[in-house]
Amino acid sequence: MKIVQTESYEEASEVVAGMILEKVLSHPESVIGLATGKTMEPVYEALVREAKKSEVSFESCRFFMLDEYVGISPDHKSSFRTYIQDRVLRPLGIKKEQITFPPASAVDIKAAAQEYEESIKAAGGIDLQLLGIGRNGHIGFNEPGSLGDSRTRVVELTESTLEANKSEFPGEKMPTMALSMGIGTILEAKNLLMLATGESKAEVIKYILNHHEDVSCPATFLKEHSHFTLVVDPSAGSKINLKI
Ligand code: GLP
Repeated sequence: MKIVQTESYEEASEVVAGMILEKVLSHPESVIGLATGKTMEPVYEALVREAKKSEVSFESCRFFMLDEYVGISPDHKSSFRTYIQDRVLRPLGIKKEQITFPPASAVDIKAAAQEYEESIKAAGGIDLQLLGIGRNGHIGFNEPGSLGDSRTRVVELTESTLEANKSEFPGEKMPTMALSMGIGTILEAKNLLMLATGESKAEVIKYILNHHEDVSCPATFLKEHSHFTLVVDPSAGSKINLKI
C-alpha cells in the first residue's frame, strides 16, 4: 500500500487525475474502472481539463463502472450513469461502445451481474480501478459485512450511506439497493487508486491503516493488494500517524 499525502484538496484531485492520464499515455488500451461520488467530481474536472490541454486520447480505452443504484431509471438525473455521462464521457468524447454499465435494471439481475463479471474478464481485466470511500469504509457499495471474495451483486444500503447520499435525491425517496462490483471483483484489478478528501473521511482512513481484512470496514481488504495507492488531502489525512 502506498499513501500519498497531499498539501491541499485541489492537489489531491489533480494527483489522481494525473495518475489516470499517465496510465492512458503509457497504455492507450487501458481498461479503467470508474467511480462516482462527490470526491471524484474535482478529479474528473481536472482530468478533462488536463486531457484537453495535453491532447490525450481515450479512444482506445475501455471503461467499467463500479456500481449503480437499483430501482431508478438509468436516465435518472442522479443515476451513476448520468453522473459519468455528464462528467466524463461527453466531455472527453468517449463513445458508448467503450463503456459497460452495471446492469442494475436487468430483469434477471443475478444472471446479468454474472455477465458483467464476464465482460470485465473478456476485456482483459481492469488495469486501473478508481475508488472513493464511504464514511463507514464501504468501497463501491460493498457495505460493512461484505466479504473479501464477494462478487458483483445486489446489495442493501446502510443507514449511514442513505444519510450520506440522500442530498442527491431531493424531494424523492432514495433507492435503498444497489448493484456493486464485489470486493473480490475490485481486488482483481491490476491497480487500485483510492482518493479520500475531507474531514468526514479522516476517521475511516485512520481505521484502515490500523486494521486488516476487517469485515466491518470493507476498505481494509484493499491493503492486501500489491498495487494499492491511497491519496488523501490534509483533512482526510489529519488522523494518520505515520511513524518515520
Ligand atoms: C458512493 C459510491 C462510492 C463512493 C462513496 C463515497 O455512494 N457508491 O463509490 O466512493 O459512496 O462518496 P463521496 O465521494 O460522495 O463521499
